[in-house]
Amino acid sequence: MCGIFGCVLREGKAAPLLHEALKRLEYRGYDSVGEATVYNNKIYVKKDAGKIEEVHAIENLDDLPGSVGIGHTRWATHGGPSKVNAHPHLDCTGKIAIVHNGIIENFMELKDELIDEGHVFVSKTDSEVIAHLIEKEVKSGLPFVEAVRNALKRLEGSYAIAVLYAEQPDMIICARKESPLVLGIKEDACFCASDIPAFLHLTRKSVVLENGEIAILRSDGYELRRISDGAEVHREPEWIDWTPEMAEKQGYPHYMLKEIHEQPQAMRNAVRLQEQYLDLMATFLDRAQEVFLVAAGTSYHACLAASYMFSKLAMRTVHPVIASEFIEEYGKALNIDTTILFVSQSGETADTLEALEYARNRASTLLGLTNVIGSTLTRVARAYICQQSGPEIGVAATKTFTSQLLVLAQLALRLAKKRGKVSQSEIDYLEEEIRKMPSYAEEVIARVEDKVRELAQKYYKKNLFLFLGRGISSATALEGRLKLMEISYKPSLAFPAGESKHGPISVVEEGVPVIFICPRDETRKEIKGNIMEMKARGATIILIIEEGDEELKSLADDYIEVVKGVPEILSPAIYVIPLQLFAYYVAVLNGLDPDKPRNLAKSVTVK
Ligand code: F6R
Repeated sequence: MCGIFGCVLREGKAAPLLHEALKRLEYRGYDSVGEATVYNNKIYVKKDAGKIEEVHAIENLDDLPGSVGIGHTRWATHGGPSKVNAHPHLDCTGKIAIVHNGIIENFMELKDELIDEGHVFVSKTDSEVIAHLIEKEVKSGLPFVEAVRNALKRLEGSYAIAVLYAEQPDMIICARKESPLVLGIKEDACFCASDIPAFLHLTRKSVVLENGEIAILRSDGYELRRISDGAEVHREPEWIDWTPEMAEKQGYPHYMLKEIHEQPQAMRNAVRLQEQYLDLMATFLDRAQEVFLVAAGTSYHACLAASYMFSKLAMRTVHPVIASEFIEEYGKALNIDTTILFVSQSGETADTLEALEYARNRASTLLGLTNVIGSTLTRVARAYICQQSGPEIGVAATKTFTSQLLVLAQLALRLAKKRGKVSQSEIDYLEEEIRKMPSYAEEVIARVEDKVRELAQKYYKKNLFLFLGRGISSATALEGRLKLMEISYKPSLAFPAGESKHGPISVVEEGVPVIFICPRDETRKEIKGNIMEMKARGATIILIIEEGDEELKSLADDYIEVVKGVPEILSPAIYVIPLQLFAYYVAVLNGLDPDKPRNLAKSVTVK
């Protein structure tokens, strides 16, 4: 999730506006920054790794000439944070500059093709192919707008782009597929940006660019067209009456709620992993004598769910371990034949890094799954996967959890394939279901939010909650409990439902809310028994169930129905969504700020 901005002014310098807009987009990424302007038919570029003000202090971003420019603030996904990988990227002639937010899935094939045709690449990014593809189309004699449109048609994946062309210095072309892009309109200027706060101080008139549209921006107006056939599209600007604070959260009252709603898009990015990284990781996992998954907090819950995925799909035992316990529990047993996958959103959690360092000294194979390229985990791991969720600002992990689950499911499936443990038809089915996960998430959020808010209203004063699940849903239960506890400070318990009769059931009395996570899976008979046990002790039964599960509904005091047909191994990423929303609304109803829970930090860098 990077931030892009473009501006075409009738008069005045573009560079200071680009600088200010990029500061307002810095929440979308901040590992490198860059700007390009066009002046006297020449492109000027300044860019480097680092935060905007750090780069500005050295480069003076404001002295680029010209009234037309584009800018970018980056959250690395392909290629680490560095000057060459920073945007804007240029074509071979230096006449075309582009900025890009999104993921180009087929960039390897396109890059090979363009290199064969003589193009020279300087970065490791997926984005650079866009500049060279446009160059190729321009060389074939097409007018510039057509050249951009043709180039876009070759891209698979997601993008929001803005393009400058030295030969047509009075305009910017921008376009989008999936990644967001909005236009800001003024009498004497046009802007494009990943998000409204970038230009809210300049204009309140805005046009949302829809998927599959391209826009030509000039200082006196804009034109919209469809990418597919070039047909004109007419859309009038809307008036935005958000305060700057609301705009930063895209109209949501808190980052946590915004990030819960961003899950479908984050999931889309998580299913766009480069095949060769998945394959490499699966090869390491296949060869290892023993595999551990090591993480803290929410990331540990993703590992716990993954242990079910690996054993059920790939028939491989992996041991999920809480990072702070790893050295004590397994340290002495580690050796060269051990492979450890460290899972950490930030890549900087002290407990996880301590375990990493320990295992490094014992010559184990270290793998990483993280959201932050350039973090310590990515520097130390032998191989890593970036989950590509973009920055998460709310302290409670939400979108990064569901994306971790999707990455781990793909990894388990890849390992299963390698080991010949699943039939081709099952692989095809699960791959298709993985692709459907973003739409399932979208549907669930739309369907359950009002009902969850009502439940929160009913239960927010309760002082004890229990979360129970069986099988892979015991990980969902733990995560639901953690979300509620960390932001609403409600004492809560979670454990595999079968454990309840071994002790925890003694806390249950009349009216204690017990939340069961019940996808339709092999544990159904047992979970029904556990529900009955709790009911018999007067608990209030709240069930998270599949849509239309009449049998379980009849056992519930309250229930939330999610979508039908989600495969068991993928269910945590869907069934956790109502629990995230429940935690959020309970915290808000208790007058608490869910974005800033007491005593907690986003990245726990102390042991
Ligand atoms: C809970 C939460 C924390 C983190 C934990 C690990 O909502 O965010 O429990 O999951 O501190 O952080 P990472 O994944 O950055 O290692």
